[in-house]
Amino acid sequence: MLKGRNLIDPMDFSTKELDEIFNLAENIIENPEKYSKVCDGKLLATLFFEPSTRTRLSFEAAMLRLGGRVLGFSDSNSSSATKGESLADTITVVSGYSDIIAMRHPKEGSARVASMNSSVPVINAGDGGHQHPTQTLTDLLTIKSKKRSFSNHIIGICGDLKFGRTVHSLVKALSRYPNNKFILISPEELKLPEYIKKEILIKNNIEFLEVDRLEDIIDKLDILYMTRVQKERFFNEEEYLRLKDSYVLNEEKMKLAKEDMIILHPLPRVNEISVEVDKDKRACYFQQTKYGMYVRMALIAKLLGVCE
Ligand code: CP
Repeated sequence: MLKGRNLIDPMDFSTKELDEIFNLAENIIENPEKYSKVCDGKLLATLFFEPSTRTRLSFEAAMLRLGGRVLGFSDSNSSSATKGESLADTITVVSGYSDIIAMRHPKEGSARVASMNSSVPVINAGDGGHQHPTQTLTDLLTIKSKKRSFSNHIIGICGDLKFGRTVHSLVKALSRYPNNKFILISPEELKLPEYIKKEILIKNNIEFLEVDRLEDIIDKLDILYMTRVQKERFFNEEEYLRLKDSYVLNEEKMKLAKEDMIILHPLPRVNEISVEVDKDKRACYFQQTKYGMYVRMALIAKLLGVCE
C-alpha cells in the first residue's frame, strides 16, 4: 500500500511496489483521459531550493494533468528560508497547506528531515549530491519501455559518479534486479563513493569494473548512462575546468557501440553528448524526460491513494 508514504530513497519501495507504479504509468500513457480528474481538489506543493527544469515542471505538469493544482516556489530567495526559517518549520507550515510535497534542496539528508516534519507525503526531488529517486523512476520506466526488463544488462555509467545523485539512486535501484553488471567510467577524482561500492555492489556480490576511458568499453554496453560534470558541486573552479570535458559522446564513439544499446542521460547536458548524437535512434534522453512526467503522475496518484 503506497497511500500516505514518503519517497526519500529509491529503496523505500519494494520492487513489487515499483512495478505497481510502472504499470499505472503505462496505463496513464495508454489512456490519459481516464486519469485527468483523479486529483480533483488536491494540492501539490513544489518547494525547490535549487534550480530545476525537468523535475519541477514535470511534477507540476503531472499534477495538473491529473486534475489537481500546484503551489510553491522555484527559488529559495523568494521563501522565508532567506530570513533564517528552518526547513522543519517551513515543512510544518506547507504540509498544512497542501496534500503532497515535492522538495529539492542542496543539503544531503534534507528530504528525510522534511518527511519527519510533514503531515503529508514528501517526495525527494533531489537532496544535494545524495539521492534523486524520482529520476530513477524515470530511468527505470525508460529502460522498461526500451529493454523490457531490468535484469541481465551491462550498464555503463559515465561522468560524475561522485556527486551524481541520479547515479547513486540508479545503482541502488538496479542492484536489486538479477544479473546486472556495472562499468563505472569516470576520472579518478569523480569515482563512485566507497560507501555505495561497499554497501550496495560488494555486499550484494554485483560485478563491477572501474575504468577511465569510454571508448575502450562502449562496445560491451546494453545501456549507457551519461552524466554531466556538475559545476555547482565543486569547491575549486580550477578542478571543475580541468574535469568538465572528460567525456564527450560523439558519432565516432557511437560507431563502436552495439546497435541496440540505449543512451540515457538525466539532463541537463552541457558538452558530454554532442548534438550530432541526438538523431541516433539509440539516443533516448529526450523521450526519457516525457516518461518522467508520466511516472510522476503515477507516483502522485499512488501516494495520494486516488488510484489502485
Ligand atoms: N534531471 C533533473 O533532475 O533535471 P533538472 O535539474 O532540470 O530538474
